[in-house]
Amino acid sequence: MNQTIIGVLTSGGDSPGMNAAIRAVVRTAYYHRIPVYGIHHGYQGLIDNDIIPLTPTSVSNIINRGGTILKTARCKQFHDPEGRKKAYENLCHHGITGLIVIGGDGSFHGLHALIEEYPIKGLGLPGTIDNDLYGTEYTIGFDTAVNTALAAIDKIRDTATSHDRLFLIEVMGRHAGYIGLHTGIGGGAEGILIPETPTNITNLMQKLEEGAQRGKKSSIIVVAEGDEAGTVIDIKEHIERHTNWEVRISILGHQQRGGTPTGFDRLLASRLAYEAVLALLQGESDKMVGMINQTIVLTPLMETWMKKKPIDPANVTMADVLSS
Ligand code: F6P
Repeated sequence: MNQTIIGVLTSGGDSPGMNAAIRAVVRTAYYHRIPVYGIHHGYQGLIDNDIIPLTPTSVSNIINRGGTILKTARCKQFHDPEGRKKAYENLCHHGITGLIVIGGDGSFHGLHALIEEYPIKGLGLPGTIDNDLYGTEYTIGFDTAVNTALAAIDKIRDTATSHDRLFLIEVMGRHAGYIGLHTGIGGGAEGILIPETPTNITNLMQKLEEGAQRGKKSSIIVVAEGDEAGTVIDIKEHIERHTNWEVRISILGHQQRGGTPTGFDRLLASRLAYEAVLALLQGESDKMVGMINQTIVLTPLMETWMKKKPIDPANVTMADVLSS
């Protein structure tokens, strides 16, 4: 029987906790006497043969670090069969039989295509701050991103209160409102605009007006970057055209992707990566390793992007009640 050799890479947007996942892959494999290679810059490194052996010492002192020691990229070349052919040749060159990809749905598309074309096993670990993957309750990095955004929102609330201002705060999530909803609730926002729920700016302004009549002098509206009402700049212009409010905007941007991972993300990343190595050894492939209700769940990669993970409607209703 051929010996299992694992390759691990991080792909797409980085997320806090990716390093904890890499560490757990390497240490679990080492425990089972399985060699591990790290691939730099995601699929680009696979095509360019930028591949190095990893040992338990290579992953010392990284569990607490944001970003990814393996670097990451969004690789266009991997969309082409020619790119995947090169990648497979390099995997064979190192004798890699199982690939663990830490990333989001774009990265999983690539892994699935590779597995369909070549005799290689592969598993995905949900690594994205967006929390938008079907098959896991939480993705690695989401909790840290929410806490980073909350720290910023708390500070903005101080200045909003001092100046009696309305703030529109843009959080990440091109297609998903999880960060928006969770930071909006945690930050006590007066409004939360996310792509999963219809946005009506007129209703929002009416709600703010009612608040003002009750004596509310400042407000925070959290806006997911993917909201259908437009950007925070569009919404600011709209509100200023129709009211006398002094509106300020703050785009939190990429700070949400960095920073020390929270305890939750370190534990989640470690557990999922540990289970991924065990699952590969049991012959599992073409699946994502996720966690739902504290239970490890393996979901076919295709389902992770074809099925939509719904926003919890109870949270939406609660957010509305608490912000009134
Ligand atoms: O997918 C994670 C994410 O951070 C999204 O929330 C955001 O829209 C996007 O990546 C930004 O990507 P980039 O860093 O390539 O601009």
